[in-house]
Amino acid sequence: MAKSILVTGGAGYIGSHTVLQLLLGGYSIVVVDNLDNSSDIALKRVKELAGDFGKNLVFHQVDLRDKPALEKIFARTKFDAVIHFAGLKAVGESVQKPLLYFNNNLTGTITLLEVMASHGCKQLVFSSSATVYGCPKEVPCTEEFPLSAASPYGRTKLFIEGICCDIYRSDSEWKIILLRYFNPVGAHPSGHIGEDPRGIPNNLMPYVQQIAVGRRPHLTVYGTDYSTKDGTGVRDYIHVVDLADGHIAALCKLSDANIGCEVYNLGTGKGTSVLEMVAAFEKASRKKIPLVMAARRPGDAEIVYAATEKAERELNWKAKYGIDEMCRDQWNWAGKNPYGYGSSDSTN
Ligand code: NAD
Ligand code: UD1
Repeated sequence: MAKSILVTGGAGYIGSHTVLQLLLGGYSIVVVDNLDNSSDIALKRVKELAGDFGKNLVFHQVDLRDKPALEKIFARTKFDAVIHFAGLKAVGESVQKPLLYFNNNLTGTITLLEVMASHGCKQLVFSSSATVYGCPKEVPCTEEFPLSAASPYGRTKLFIEGICCDIYRSDSEWKIILLRYFNPVGAHPSGHIGEDPRGIPNNLMPYVQQIAVGRRPHLTVYGTDYSTKDGTGVRDYIHVVDLADGHIAALCKLSDANIGCEVYNLGTGKGTSVLEMVAAFEKASRKKIPLVMAARRPGDAEIVYAATEKAERELNWKAKYGIDEMCRDQWNWAGKNPYGYGSSDSTN
């Protein structure tokens, strides 16, 4: 029988791509999302892209903190595992509204874990972030590096990682995989699903994409005096479809005996500068991205990229795509959907 997986935050950017890969892999999926930062159109498109497998997708518009609603969903379906994406993720907003972030991300997760435990579902894959490495002293970042939180958002990731480890220590029936994502970019090669941030994008590539479709005039390059190849910040960009496949690898790993609570980086192991990424996007889109050089953004690290050996060895997973494919697919999505899932008269 098909494995049944609950995906929280499955209407969001990474969640929607992962749900599609899961459906195509033969899993039965229930998505819980409050649509706070997403659109149900994403899931309608996922259903279409999945063809016959689309019938194995069920969606509930529910907030994770609504325990009775979550209880009902768990009472109806016996889940083999949960993939937990749901959370707020804007670093700057988390500094302005820390309690909102603690309430949403921590209370949401604790409620989910309580309901899972009471229904005997003790297998979890959690979306953590390379943000827990702070400003690393060296690269590549291995999973053993010291951790820190530079923002309330980052602190929610650190806390949840700690909560998961504590739960496993208290009850060895739990199997938990913490995935530390590096910088997810790109879109599904069909161009029908992709990233659709609300308001002004905080991250590099959604911003670049909006310049290319004429929604913003120029890119502000934050910092040109870093000790990097061209002075701009270096990151590990990973194609969102590779990232989605990493979740299937993690689900397979959950069937190993005694995996406990394990952490894995999901990155490519390659560092790319802001200027290199812009050049790759210009090549893919044949659009000029006007640049304005500016001071460093507070809190930004100089160079961050992943050590990938642990995921390669233990999850049997390795990223397949490079920055040219990431930019090609992101441009395909942007060209087909210049205003994301909305229309040009929306407030974005
Ligand atoms: P996203 O905002 O597109 O998706 C998150 C989804 O969770 C949204 O659909 C939102 O509506 C939903 N959600 C939020 N709070 C909820 C709640 N209380 N109840 C139900 N649904 C809720 O973000 P994403 O980029 O897909 O990120 C998914 C996860 O990966 C997040 O936990 C994020 O912190 C983490 N992550 C993202 C990145 C990145 O750069 N995108 C990097 C590292 C880690
Ligand atoms: C940011 C977050 C991090 C989060 C990650 C993925 C901060 C300080 N860090 O990291 O916590 O996990 O996103 O969501 O916000 N850049 C520009 N101009 C822009 C935007 C970005 O030059 O308009 C540069 C940045 O300085 C950086 C690179 O592009 O060098 C990537 O930036 P971004 O996409 O925001 O990701 P991170 O900085 O890695």
